[in-house]
Formats: sequence, C-alpha cells, structure tokens
Amino acid sequence: MNEMTSVAVIGLGAMGVRFAGRFLDAGHEVIVWNRTPEKAAELVSRGASAAASPAEAARNAEAVVTVVSDPEALRAVTEGPDGIAAGANASTTVIEMSTVGLRAVRRLETALPAGVGLLDAPVLGSLSEAESGTLLVFVGGPRRLAERWIPLFGTLGSAIVSGPLGSGAAAKLVANATLVGTLTLLGETIALADRLGLGRRLTMDILALTPLGLASKRRREQLETGNFPLRFRLALARKDAELIREAAEAAHAETRVLEAAATWFADAEEAGLGDRDYSEILRLITRESSAFGPD
Ligand SMILES: NC(=O)c1ccc[n+]([C@@H]2O[C@H](COP(=O)([O-])OP(=O)(O)OC[C@H]3O[C@@H](n4cnc5c(N)ncnc54)[C@H](OP(=O)(O)O)[C@@H]3O)[C@@H](O)[C@H]2O)c1
Repeated sequence: MNEMTSVAVIGLGAMGVRFAGRFLDAGHEVIVWNRTPEKAAELVSRGASAAASPAEAARNAEAVVTVVSDPEALRAVTEGPDGIAAGANASTTVIEMSTVGLRAVRRLETALPAGVGLLDAPVLGSLSEAESGTLLVFVGGPRRLAERWIPLFGTLGSAIVSGPLGSGAAAKLVANATLVGTLTLLGETIALADRLGLGRRLTMDILALTPLGLASKRRREQLETGNFPLRFRLALARKDAELIREAAEAAHAETRVLEAAATWFADAEEAGLGDRDYSEILRLITRESSAFGPD
C-alpha cells in the first residue's frame, strides 16, 4: 500500500461511517456508497466522493471495504450487475469487515472474479473504539496480501493476522461468543440474586469479584441509570448468535450453553428490542426497570 491510497467504503452504518471518517483523516482518497444515500452526505462534505453503485466504487478503488449488517446485505452489495464483483479487477483488494461468518466469506470468494484479492477482517470493539482508532482487526487471507494492507488497518486499530481466508471471521465469532455468553450469564446471575433477596448493590459488589468482574463493572452504570446508549443493535447480536450456532454445527462443536444464551436474544428481538442496544438484554433477563432497589 502506498502512503495514500484510494479506499471505497461500502456500508455507512454506525461502524462504516466511522471507518470512512478515519480513512479521510488519514489522507486517503475515500469513495463511499450506502443503500440509503443520505448517509453519505456528511462524508462527502468532508471530501469523500459518493459512488452510484458498489460496482462503480470498486472500479475506482484499490481497496474496497465492506461493512454491512449480515450475510444477506453482503450478497446484495457484492453480487449482481451493480455489485462489487462487477467492478473489481485484478488490482482490487476486497476487505470484508462486517461480521458475517465463514460461509458468507466463502460465498464472497466464489462471487469475485479470479485474481481479485480478498481478506476477511472483522473487528472487535464498538463505536468509541472505531472513532479513536483502537479496534482490533482480525485479518484472514494470504499473508502477503494481509501484510500489504496492515497500514490501512492501522488507521482503525491493531491488526492481528489470524491465518488463511475465513480465520478472521472465525476469530470474530469466537470473540462474540464470549459476549453472548457473558451478558446473558450476567443477567441471569443478577436475576437469581434478586430472587434470593440480595440487594442490587451488594450483588454488583459480589459479581465484581468473580470471573464476571469485567462485564459487571462495565454494565453497572447502565443498570443503575437505566440508560443503555445505542452502540451495537440487538438484532446484530442475535445475528451473531445465529452465525455462531451455524459455525459450531458445521464444525461439529457442541455449544449447549451458547445455544441456550441465544434464546434470550431471540426472545428480545421478538419483544421488539432489535433496534435497541444489545445490552438491554440485561433489562429483559432481570425483568425490571433500571432502578436499584434498597440494599
Ligand atoms: N456496532 C458495533 O459495535 C459493531 C462492532 C463490531 C462489529 N460490528 C459489525 O459490523 C457490521 C455493521 O454494523 P453497524 O453497527 O455499522 O450496523 P448498522 O448501523 O445497522 O448499519 C448496517 C449497514 O448495512 C447496510 N445494509 C443492511 N442491509 C443491506 C442490504 N440489504 N443492502 C445493502 N446494504 C445493507 C445498511 O444500509 P442502510 O443505511 O441503507 O440501512 C447500513 O449501511 C455488522 O456486521 C456488525 O455485526 C458492529
């Protein structure tokens, strides 16, 4: 990668808009495309150019970053006459940074014309990490290609080269399996303590000393205030739980605890919480408002 390069960002949701902003700040030529075009306006006012389709964006960029919701969205932006595959050529590298699992990465590989470079590079961290450039990026794909783009990943955070294509997606699913498991276990242990008559403050003090310490400290303020600011949509966390189940099944890994945890996310989405922050699962599991009861 030259110091300055042309990067297309396909998908300007909560993460994509921040990725594009950081690429602009780093001095790259940035081309953007989003299904809902209005979301590109602010980036265009900062110097990005808006493409008419993912294919057009790919035609004009050395690196094409995809950061969309799920496997279906990835197919929508990569396949068909307007998709990235129609515009990419042998000098393009497609860098898949959504959380879509291994099957979607394999499908993307087959959809792209021969010779197009492909990395799967999903990220760990959320909005504040994306803004400050402190994400972890798991990079799967041919080593030399991964190394070529490490400076670009450096504008978003730290790259961990995880192995061949698909290993980035695998690493991300493993990391998010811990989120699905920990958050639901935290909710259930708090609900148990409530039913056993322990005061909420005491409960949180106890949990802080256990293997759930980190999670309970991070969530304490949200539980106390009842304020769960949107960082990661619950529908996306449910999608991750489903991708984890699918990957485990394909690999013959037995994940009984994770399957049970996933039912909480399914219930939450069915209860209409899909567009809220995923940490609201705690509110659902503890079946209460936010207020701390008396100790
Ligand atoms: N938020 C986080 O903390 C976080 C952290 C790590 C990883 N991730 C992963 O990063 C990815 C993006 O997350 P996000 O939080 O940025 O999601 P988001 O805010 O919900 O944005 C989703 C993006 O996908 C696009 N999209 C959805 N369906 C589409 C379709 N059928 N065709 C074309 N575009 C479509 C949306 O376009 P419109 O604007 O037109 O709806 C939007 O640009 C997800 O895979 C998520 O799991 C998120």
